[in-house]
Amino acid sequence: MDARLLACARLCKGDVLCDVGTDHGYLPCYMIENGLCKKAFACDVAQGPLNSAIAHIKERCLSDKITAVLSDGLDSVEKGDITDVVIAGMGGELIAQIVTRCDWLKEGINLVLQPMTKPDILRKKLYESGYSVLCESACVSGRFVYSVMQVTFAEPGYECSDEYLHYGFVKGRTDEEKRYLQDRAAKLRTAAQGMLRGGADTQTANKLLALSRLY
Ligand SMILES: C[S@@+](CC[C@H](N)C(=O)[O-])C[C@H]1O[C@@H](n2cnc3c(N)ncnc32)[C@H](O)[C@@H]1O
Repeated sequence: MDARLLACARLCKGDVLCDVGTDHGYLPCYMIENGLCKKAFACDVAQGPLNSAIAHIKERCLSDKITAVLSDGLDSVEKGDITDVVIAGMGGELIAQIVTRCDWLKEGINLVLQPMTKPDILRKKLYESGYSVLCESACVSGRFVYSVMQVTFAEPGYECSDEYLHYGFVKGRTDEEKRYLQDRAAKLRTAAQGMLRGGADTQTANKLLALSRLY
């Protein structure tokens, strides 16, 4: 369990976890073993990772509490008594597709999302689809820094500004959060400079440059 998955675990609230894209199944095993949930579903779109999860679950003697499911996103998962859904370690666009394709997520599910890339696209799609980000923090894993969001289906009571899309609700309260903001600013700068070099839309490039100067 790295800092990323630990940050996801901290944002789970209920008794039944569904981990989408579980890979080795580390998160559901950790959650059960630490009494953070009573039952879990470990889901993956690919049989290889799912087999690793099944092996890990067996090794930890947790087969009676964790069910492995082969599923593209949540397509083959029934809501049942699931309270928390974690989608971590995938790109922001893919996470957005998985969320918007599943209607039962609108029924009071606590969603924990951790995009590896394109958090701005995820924030935009969530906003447009009527999901609110309740809180967001940053975590460092290896050489990289990521955001982790707690999300629920509720009309967002905030503005979908460019600043929000690129920096989210990460406020720079911790070293990780400061690093996240600086990392996002550097990415915006690089994108803007690339646009200016390529002779593309200077208005957009200048907007990104202005945003990058916030941190
Ligand atoms: C990089 S791993 C992340 C594992 C773990 N969630 C984590 O954050 O450490 C991504 C996993 O997501 C799975 N995956 C990719 N697309 C998926 C989809 N559409 N539905 C379910 N799982 C998917 C992959 O097979 C892989 O096991």
